[in-house]
Amino acid sequence: MAKSIKQKGNANVPSKNKFAESMYKISHRFSLFKVYDDFLTMSIAACTQNLETKLSWYEDEYLATIAHYKDSELRHEFPKAFANLIIEMEERTGSSQGNDVLGDFFEQNISNGRNGQFFTPFHICELMASLTCNDTVIEEEPKKDRPLRILDPSCGSGRMLMASHRVNGIGNEYYGIDIDRICVKMAAINLFLNGMWNSEVMCANSLMPDDFVISYHISFIPFGIFKIEDKEKSKLWHLHRNSFSKHEKKTNGALIELDNTPFSERSKDNSTQLDLF
Ligand SMILES: C[S@@+](CC[C@H](N)C(=O)[O-])C[C@H]1O[C@@H](n2cnc3c(N)ncnc32)[C@H](O)[C@@H]1O
Repeated sequence: MAKSIKQKGNANVPSKNKFAESMYKISHRFSLFKVYDDFLTMSIAACTQNLETKLSWYEDEYLATIAHYKDSELRHEFPKAFANLIIEMEERTGSSQGNDVLGDFFEQNISNGRNGQFFTPFHICELMASLTCNDTVIEEEPKKDRPLRILDPSCGSGRMLMASHRVNGIGNEYYGIDIDRICVKMAAINLFLNGMWNSEVMCANSLMPDDFVISYHISFIPFGIFKIEDKEKSKLWHLHRNSFSKHEKKTNGALIELDNTPFSERSKDNSTQLDLF
């Protein structure tokens, strides 16, 4: 299907953004933000099937999310939106603009740069990934046989990690942290749909060593995007916290103290936009 769309026009130019069209079509009764957030929640649930029950591992959350929508929206519009997302991602795979369809939609239609949520253009991400992960840096790693662990502590939709995956290939571990819950969901779906297994995306204030709201583990076996609600079970939370203690030793134990009240809206069940100002 993706091929037939490509053949109609110039292969370098993506087809008209059908994913955005689908989102707008559903958003006549609710805000675009809500529809998009619900779409992300449903997509995560749909990607994470319990093979025994044949239902999603997050069936309850899925049912609570779909309860607001009409049957026609659920039967036609949301599945169409997901199909359009996959088609557009596939069309853009390997292109210089990258395949972060979710991030582009969020940036252009929802965030509009609010709270610094402009994302880095993909070709710049790719350049930065090649500079950071060049042979010299990798050779300095003490254990070369271990996978690289690559972290973006303010990952947005995860495109810096996606670019790094393109540069470094499979077998490495990709970690993203973002304070904004909707960004965390986008990044988790992006990593999953790009086959970036053994990776994790955590919702937290990355300037604070202990902060944790929720995390998503991207896994091949079992297959899916798995929520981690207990910080002790999050590999990323441990890695991130340990990186602070290393840094503290280097800087004579300097402490970073932050008032976290502006971020207090974040909760396990709701996506929030940052409110920094
Ligand atoms: C300018 S965007 C960059 C996103 C991505 N790294 C990129 O290059 O496209 C900055 C991101 O940082 C997040 N952010 C801001 N303050 C943060 C904090 N203290 N901890 C974690 N994420 C934060 C925002 O939600 C936003 O998604």
